[in-house]
Amino acid sequence: MKIAVVGKGGSGKTTTSAVLARTMARRGRATLALDCDSNPNLGISLGLGEEVTERLVALRDAVDTGEEDHASSPDELVRRFGVDAPDGLRLAVVTAIQNPQPGCP
Ligand SMILES: Nc1ncnc2c1ncn2[C@@H]1O[C@H](COP(=O)(O)OP(=O)(O)OP(=O)(O)O)[C@@H](O)[C@H]1O
Ligand SMILES: [Mg+2]
Repeated sequence: MKIAVVGKGGSGKTTTSAVLARTMARRGRATLALDCDSNPNLGISLGLGEEVTERLVALRDAVDTGEEDHASSPDELVRRFGVDAPDGLRLAVVTAIQNPQPGCP
């Protein structure tokens, strides 16, 4: 199951995403939370703390500036740009896929 949370600024996207992700994980589902917000603070809402969240955001920003390469596979993306989070879920802070090719994951 894939769930996308979108909405206007300040409408509760991050809070809703965190509650959904932790609830799904607690119920035993393998849960991956992807934060692709321009103001990515899902890590804070998930309970990861500022230091870990800022480290993930800095890594994503490095992709945007070209200092880091995009991941070449979904597995690599989850490993390199993610951390384990409370309730057994995993969070990855990600950016847009540039120039997607046919078959792009
Ligand atoms: N169901 C709710 N009831 C009351 N307040 C809420 C609810 N959900 C979120 N909030 C509060 O509303 C504010 C905005 O929530 P949140 O940061 O989740 O929104 P957002 O859509 O992610 O914002 P942004 O567009 O800035 O990323 C926060 O102070 C949050 O605590
Ligand atoms: Mg938000």
